[in-house]
Amino acid sequence: MTTANPSSTPSSTPSSTPSSISSSLPADNAALRTALYEGSLFKTAATTTTRELVKATQELLREALGDVDEDLRRAPSRLSNDEFFRRMGVLRRRLYLGEDFHELLRRLVVELGFDLERVAFDPLRLRIIQGGGHANPAAKAVYYPHRDTWYGHPQSLIVGWIPLDDLAPEETFVFYPEYLRRVAENDSEIFDYDAWVREGWSLKIGWQDPEAGLRARYPQMIGTIDPSAQALGFDTRAGDLLLFAGAHLHQTRAQTGERTRYSLDFRLVDRADLDAGRGAPNVDNRSRGSAVPDYVPGVAPRA
Ligand SMILES: [Fe+2]
Repeated sequence: MTTANPSSTPSSTPSSTPSSISSSLPADNAALRTALYEGSLFKTAATTTTRELVKATQELLREALGDVDEDLRRAPSRLSNDEFFRRMGVLRRRLYLGEDFHELLRRLVVELGFDLERVAFDPLRLRIIQGGGHANPAAKAVYYPHRDTWYGHPQSLIVGWIPLDDLAPEETFVFYPEYLRRVAENDSEIFDYDAWVREGWSLKIGWQDPEAGLRARYPQMIGTIDPSAQALGFDTRAGDLLLFAGAHLHQTRAQTGERTRYSLDFRLVDRADLDAGRGAPNVDNRSRGSAVPDYVPGVAPRA
């Protein structure tokens, strides 16, 4: 975000780096947002709405994969890469743009105590991590250590992540909590949101071109992560909800097994915080353009 000054100080009082993930959310939403901007990580148990999201997505996956009796997590290996990507592209588009899924997200946001009048969100994305996927050059960006803010999102970005299955720590991802306030040398200046979506949203949502990952340039760290820095991983149950600041440095773990990992994620901002400059510290984000104008409003515009 060019509007943010990488050398600016955080707008909230820094707290100590979290060494664990909390299972209980502050009751007050302002306190929750402040805790997230300061680096707190939360993982809460499944709710009625997250279960509904998981179930609806699994039904779409079953339709897309051809009424599989077998474990959905093993189904992709029956298809060619191109065919699997094509079918998942249709599904990704449906999840991202479907009004019914926007409504489910709004319900979840309300459950979390956010004020829909103030919220705007980047809707649901389906993430698919296949065993050995890290060896596929078209998927390499998925495994970069990164901050979501490097993709043209503001410092007030809050990310939600929901797994479709019970997962062991080696099947999820890791946070590098101390890097919230520490520079991770990166090339985020190469990312221009407006250029990225100029030709339409197929690249953004990943529904058309399986080779796009070979051509598009995505921000990544330059150099390596300090080996003494904590890598905070986690296990999870289907429908759990992980909440974290989009400024946290994190990295998907490479998977070696035959089972595919499916998860949903979404992003949101509280517009009052955004306008007031409240958010996580910006130590190194130089991405250009802004995704915010394309966010979906918390309150649906009247037809
Ligand atoms: Fe991410």
